[in-house]
Amino acid sequence: MPWQRRRPPSSTVFGAGSAAADMMLVGEQPGDQEDKAGAPFVGPAGRLLDKALAAADVERERLYVTNAVKHFKFTLPERGQRRIHKTPSRTEVVSCRPWLLAEVDAVQPDVLLLLGATAAQSLMGSTFRLTAHRGEALRLPDAGDVGWDPQVVATAHPSSVLRGRPEDREKAFEALVSDLRFAARLLAS
Ligand code: URA
Repeated sequence: MPWQRRRPPSSTVFGAGSAAADMMLVGEQPGDQEDKAGAPFVGPAGRLLDKALAAADVERERLYVTNAVKHFKFTLPERGQRRIHKTPSRTEVVSCRPWLLAEVDAVQPDVLLLLGATAAQSLMGSTFRLTAHRGEALRLPDAGDVGWDPQVVATAHPSSVLRGRPEDREKAFEALVSDLRFAARLLAS
């Protein structure tokens, strides 16, 4: 397919934000628009995240934003050119983990906010259940290896708000805002 030959393969999307950030947000992996822009959370999920941050009174400029997996994984449907997101495998998550841990160690945030199950399982372990521990104040199970011991909050991924049933979206958005507020309050504690 000519489209495939012309298009560069997906590239590494590095984290972005202040190296002095007191809160670090971790998503799953860059999407189509993040891959093209080379920056995390600039597509539809990023716009939803920006709205939720504004509602929670958290300035994105004071955050460091990154992903558990550093490349966009996608499938190409037979027709059309839109690349469809594919969930990363456990192997991909584990392979990218050293880079994520290095970011945590370099930025040393007071609070880590994990967006979605992939980010949560990358740092809290593969048996971690977001549904059981969403919105709690947690600690990394292996903070000693990371060299830094931030408070951790796991919440839903902004994409899950966008993908939910229209009648559930407002409630899902408010729940995300509530977790963002909770994480911001931990900074003050
Ligand atoms: N979804 C993510 O998890 N990360 C991004 O950067 C964009 C969408």
